[in-house]
Amino acid sequence: MNVLIGGAWPYANGSLHLGHIASLLPGDILARYYRLKGENVLYVSGSDCNGTPITIRARQEGCTAKAIADRYHQEFRECFEKLGFTYDYYTRTDSEHHHKIVQKIFLELLDNKKVYKKEMEQAFCGTCDQFLPDRFVEGKCPNCGKDARGDQCDHCSKILDPLELLKKICKLCGESPTTRATEHFYFQLSAFQAQLESYVRSVSEKGLWRDNAIKLTERYLKEGLHDRAVSRDLPIGVPVPVKGYEDKKIYVWMEAVSGYYSASKKWAEENNEDDSAFWREDTMSYYIHGKDNIPFHSIIWPSILLGINNHSLPSQIVSNEYLTVEGRKLSTSKNWAVWIPDLVDHYHPDSIRYFLTINAPENRDTDFSWREFVYSHNSELLGAYGNFVNRTLKFIEKSFAGVIPNGKIDEQIEVKVKTLYSEAGVLIEEAHFKQALEKLFEFVRSANKYFDVKQPWVQVKESPEECKATLATCVYIIANLAQLLSPFLPFSSDCVREFLAIQELEWEPIEVNSITINDVQPLFERLDVSVIDLEVRKLREQSSIQ
Ligand code: MF3
Ligand code: ZN
Repeated sequence: MNVLIGGAWPYANGSLHLGHIASLLPGDILARYYRLKGENVLYVSGSDCNGTPITIRARQEGCTAKAIADRYHQEFRECFEKLGFTYDYYTRTDSEHHHKIVQKIFLELLDNKKVYKKEMEQAFCGTCDQFLPDRFVEGKCPNCGKDARGDQCDHCSKILDPLELLKKICKLCGESPTTRATEHFYFQLSAFQAQLESYVRSVSEKGLWRDNAIKLTERYLKEGLHDRAVSRDLPIGVPVPVKGYEDKKIYVWMEAVSGYYSASKKWAEENNEDDSAFWREDTMSYYIHGKDNIPFHSIIWPSILLGINNHSLPSQIVSNEYLTVEGRKLSTSKNWAVWIPDLVDHYHPDSIRYFLTINAPENRDTDFSWREFVYSHNSELLGAYGNFVNRTLKFIEKSFAGVIPNGKIDEQIEVKVKTLYSEAGVLIEEAHFKQALEKLFEFVRSANKYFDVKQPWVQVKESPEECKATLATCVYIIANLAQLLSPFLPFSSDCVREFLAIQELEWEPIEVNSITINDVQPLFERLDVSVIDLEVRKLREQSSIQ
């Protein structure tokens, strides 16, 4: 099977926060899982370096957009690496390669008459003496009346044209803009209405996309797809590859989603590979992002693909809801956020991955609280998993000189382990990561019970053969847990792999026999509960919310 995994491209205009990782982490779990299974995987993403937010940030700091993008692209790479993300290719949208591929796509759409030129009215700011694209216009949403940006209302999710906003103001100077005639390129979204309708019906019948993606997409389709301007008068971005229009840039969304394609081409070029297997109709493709990105992956990207006669439409849309922090909506402007560069410097990456999976906002918003974070680390990771590994292996070190005893593995447990591979596997493939991890931790807890009931410390004196069987079973559990958990908790799985001298992890039952265990260390350290107050205080102090 060929599996393409596309992680959303974070805007390179500020640091990553917990909300980003909560929506992106499923991508890495999938990539690791399918690689363990031996499937052909391509996992791509990159930094979104062309959007208006970067231009705005550069103006605030008095530097170039490139300088901002460089800074955050580098920071993103480091954060992703520390969290164990295994992108096959992580690139950026201001690269020459990306520009070239996007322009090619644009010209193909133009050739196929899916992009056309049209005169239109556009917001123009007399004070700034320029046209105002999308996010440079702010005002009230015509649909729900709340504050909205020119491209989309975050409150009711309506996709907007900047001219539709009520009480428009220019984001740059605060004055109210007028309108002027100009020429732009339009993407004929309306041409894909029927195809998308039947496509969404079929994914919905097969239960493939997340509910929020299906509902929102059905809503847009019901309202009817309208052609949309896909060129902008912007200082940065991919130039429209048409003579006389080079000053205009291709709409950031059309261009950013095309990054999945450009990144896969670049990966192929650099690795002497062929990426065509990942762009076929039978390719299994997963797109991973937060709910605000849904229409771009469920409508715009499929339309672009259809427009260039590529039928590898998204098989799965994994669009998480939002993560709140200490009960409040995460806000970067009010600095109510947990920033990843801080977090990865102080906490175990598996603790972060564990928390964000077991409390993932898969179907509804969920909350990150420091109390829950510390307790889930101490009781689940350290108290249940780490403890089971440690008590078993330490006992073998002490009573068997570190040599794993040979013994009959408990049959029931063998059966249980076999079913876990298939059950957790299906849950992961269907993007129910939280349920998969819950199931595995239920097993961890039952393993501790097994140890308690068997009492190997008594058995070792009274019936050494039974003691060997108990420990062989416990080691069997540990080796298989290391494999089963490795998509979720790769760092601790790797430690166990070394303790037990396992060559390579795989997604099928494994037995470890009569080896000498290596240098066992505790997998996790206890977090002192005083961390909770310290971190909450820090959050309140840094934020303008009290
Ligand atoms: N930069 C966009 C955001 O953070 C996401 C782009 S995902 C892409 O919302 F696929 F379109 F690139
Ligand atoms: Zn609205």
